[in-house]
Amino acid sequence: MAEIGKDINKAKQLLASGELVAIPTETVYGLAANALNTDAVTRIFEAKNRPVFDPLIVHVSSLKGAGLFVRNVPDIAHELADTFWPGPLTLLLEKTSLIPDLVTSGLSHVGIRSPRHPLTRALLKELDFPLAAPSANPFGYISPTTAGHVQDQLGGKLAYILDGGACEIGIESTIVGFRNGKAVVYRRGGLQIEDIAEITGEVSLDINASSNPKAPGQLASHYAPRKKLVTGELDALLAAHLHQKVGVLSFQKKYDVPFQITLSPDGDLAEAARKFFSALRTLDHASVDIILAEYVPDVGLGRAINDRLRRASHQGA
Ligand code: TXA
Ligand code: MG
Repeated sequence: MAEIGKDINKAKQLLASGELVAIPTETVYGLAANALNTDAVTRIFEAKNRPVFDPLIVHVSSLKGAGLFVRNVPDIAHELADTFWPGPLTLLLEKTSLIPDLVTSGLSHVGIRSPRHPLTRALLKELDFPLAAPSANPFGYISPTTAGHVQDQLGGKLAYILDGGACEIGIESTIVGFRNGKAVVYRRGGLQIEDIAEITGEVSLDINASSNPKAPGQLASHYAPRKKLVTGELDALLAAHLHQKVGVLSFQKKYDVPFQITLSPDGDLAEAARKFFSALRTLDHASVDIILAEYVPDVGLGRAINDRLRRASHQGA
């Protein structure tokens, strides 16, 4: 099992020698390695069992810190970074040759993000290389929002888990690229599109669900529990599964079944986002045969939660 602690120096030394370290961010925990070391990056793909066509996000302490790794940064990317970094926003920027092709799966652009968790910020400031880090879960499974989640899933495959407590936002960063000088959102996440649009004006969306590897980050099935997950209207779902041991994931209402989690009795979407992956994981580990879940209101952060619910419940390829 991996050691868990708050020792930034230890994390630094391990990363500098090419080892994997889990890092806390405000979104989810990341499985980090030196982004400039292809052997270390290869270990990330191996530990997660992640296909190499799925590129990694590179974490830096600031856009300035990304200076050598990206070029032709559009003005609106600068404005977005100035406004929302550190924070739950990943920018797709043209990469220089310093970023190994393995990191971007051969794509010309690299995902760059400046996370705002204080421990990870302190670590990044100590390092003289950026950190490639996908979410610290086995490929396709529920994302981790505590150090314990990382330990449960990947504990045997990494050296150290930097423990920063439970993640403040709980769902991944919003991914934004640029086409003809305009912002394009590729993944909904912790930063809302309305907030981005205030800076950039018109924002287009390119969020399809696909099993086609050419559409990285948009796999139809993702974030999934091991148990079957069915989404819909909960009363109807409960009636249809009367003879099964069900786990219920609801937004506001309580249900009278042994295994149920309410995301936010007050209807607070930020609270729901914070609890979402953890709740799904708890139900996945409970003694139930099937998980029934309802969508949350499809506004603001709710859209990012619903995107994950949709992919987590996707059946088949
Ligand atoms: O909040 C987050 O973004 C977390 C924390 C750890 O920073 N990271 C994260 O990484 O969610 P990951 O690997 O689980 O998801 C990143 C997604 C992937 O689906 C990947 O396909 C997409 O971002 N992505 C990364 N680089 C890309 C690129 N150059 N072009 C298009 N999509 C990219
Ligand atoms: Mg992930």
